Formats: sequence, structure tokens, C-alpha cells
Amino acid sequence: MLIKPVLNAELFGSTPNGEEIKLYTIEIPGVIKASIMDFGATLTHLYVPDRNGKMEDVVLGFDDLAGYQKKEYQENYCYLGSTIGRVGGRIRGNQFELDGVTYKLEPNQGKIHLHGGKEGWDRKVWNAKPINHDSAIGVEFSLKSPEGGDYPGEIDFSVIYSVNPEGELSIEYRGTTDKATILNPTNHSYFNLGGDFSKSILDHTLRLEASRFLPIDENSFPTGELAAVENTPFDFTNPKEISVAIHQNHEQIKLGNGIDHSFAFDVQEKCASLYDPISGRLLELTTTEPGVQVYTSNFLNGNIRGKGDVAYKQHAAICLETQHFPDSINQKDFPSVVLRPGEVFSSKSIFKFSAQ
Ligand code: BGC
Repeated sequence: MLIKPVLNAELFGSTPNGEEIKLYTIEIPGVIKASIMDFGATLTHLYVPDRNGKMEDVVLGFDDLAGYQKKEYQENYCYLGSTIGRVGGRIRGNQFELDGVTYKLEPNQGKIHLHGGKEGWDRKVWNAKPINHDSAIGVEFSLKSPEGGDYPGEIDFSVIYSVNPEGELSIEYRGTTDKATILNPTNHSYFNLGGDFSKSILDHTLRLEASRFLPIDENSFPTGELAAVENTPFDFTNPKEISVAIHQNHEQIKLGNGIDHSFAFDVQEKCASLYDPISGRLLELTTTEPGVQVYTSNFLNGNIRGKGDVAYKQHAAICLETQHFPDSINQKDFPSVVLRPGEVFSSKSIFKFSAQ
């Protein structure tokens, strides 16, 4: 029997400016319980059952708002569960040209502009509105991203998190602009399906319906090539343990310090899955996006202590960031991320959990 999800809202904390941050929880008891806060439109908790029905949280984050507001976290730019915008990934040379105008972007991670920069959407307080349509229950988070600073054009943007009676979690984006700009949002959740964040995800298996991946250079920018995964550690066309891939002696694994690469999907439906053989939890992904940035949390180093005061170490989790390819604006052969007035950007990714 299918059960309609329920939505609850509670206070999660206040920002240093005194803005109250709410936590919205969408739940089907025993099936899924997802919490999202309006700071960064961030997925903070995601409880799903293991093969014995035990509900555990499978995404990295903090127990309270204070954790997300700490200086060392904010300056680390690791984006636990946040909505990323305007543009996911690194932009080569911290600049791009659009309609003959060059736009320069401020660096935020070292010398590089990453994931929308210092004024990224991960650190904005979003407007939230409960939604209830087609039997899915959720919350629409919206913001107006003003022109100025880095990117051209004012963007009206929304992200809808919802759960349907089948227990699937959807993340949908919609955006419009008043002037030509670039837009490539994603969600930056760190999954560890074992639910114990002191352990790594190296024994999880990953399947990607992707016969090509995007090699990177020494600064982690895609080179522009779409390379065959065949005979490389990046071949996940059959499910493969992540440790097998990242322990191979391969130039691209060294450059990424693990996997920190985009993959081009061959299909959209069930294009990826992640499985934890110990708990039996399985995540299956479907997306309208052409690719996914897979990041095996290579740069977590134990400095950040998250839920339950657990130190988040290297490979504690894996991000599956469905999106257009990084640095697309500087790569003429990648699908375009340009958004023009009158166009509507829309995108949807579905995260389906089960256990076996
Ligand atoms: C990027 C990594 C980065 C991480 C956290 C990922 O999407 O690909 O290189 O370190 O986000 O910012």
C-alpha cells in the first residue's frame, strides 16, 4: 500500500544576522525521511532503511545550524548537501565570454572560482513554500539572484525537493533570466549508504551508464575531451567496487586525488546506482541532466567534525552531482549552459532507495 508523505517544519537555528532558519522534513514512516533547510536549500538528513528495515541517515552534514555556520566549514567550501549555483564546478581562468563580453569571476577555493564562488547559492537564505501536487509532497525553495558581482543577468530560480508515495526523492530546478547568462545548478549531497560516517565508502559499488568520462588537467579542469572509459579505472558500466577504481595506478586518478570527474550518461533512466553490500542499501538515480560529477570526497581530511562529532575523513562519502559538464562555457563541444531571456531552464533528478 502506498502512503502519502507528510511534511513538518521546525526551527533549525538562527543566522548571525538573526534570520530564523527552518528545517522541513518530508516523511513516509519506515520508508524515507528527508530534511532540508532554507539555508543553502540544503539536504541535511536523509534516513532510509537497510535490509533489516533499520532507518539510518545516509548523508553527511551537521546536527544543527551552528555546524553549517562555523567559519572553518564556510571557508572549506566542501558544500555538505547544498544547492550549488549558479554554476557547478570550476571555471577555467576564472572567466568566460558571452555575446562578446568577458566576465571575470572571483576565486573562492584557492585561486579558483568553484561552485558559484563566495556568493554561491549554498550560503543564501531561500524562500520556502510547501507544495503538494500529483500526490508528491515537498518544499519549493526560491531566490532571486541579482545581477552584479560575478555573473550577468538576474536569475529567478527555484529548487523543489519532493517525495512521492513510492518514496522517491526528487530534486527539480527551474530558472529564468532577464539577460543572457550561464546556469548549471546541482545538489552536493555526500552519500554514505552504510550510515556510519566514520567508515569510508570504498567498499560501496558504483554503476554508471556512461561509456565516456571527462579527463581533467592538473588544476582539475576538464581538458575538453570525452574519453572512452573502456580499460580505465573509470569504467563503471558494470557495478564495481570504488576501491578497485581509486587504487589503480592511473594518471587521472592521481590528478583527481581519487575520482573527481564528470561522466557523460548514455541513458537518463536509472543511469547510476550506488550499493552498500553491508547494509544492503541501494540508491538508483534517474536524471534529465547529460552527466554527473562523481567526487569521492578526496579533500575531506578529518578537520570537519559533523553529526555526532564524527570527523569527516577522506572517502567518507561520495557525491553524485547531476549536471551539465563543468566549464561548459569555455568548451565549445560541451552541451551549452547559456540561458537567455524567454527560455526556461528545467532539470530533474530522482533518487530512489531500496535495500537488498
Ligand atoms: C568538486 C571537488 C571539490 C568538491 C568540494 C566537487 O564537486 O569536483 O573538486 O573539492 O566539490 O568543493
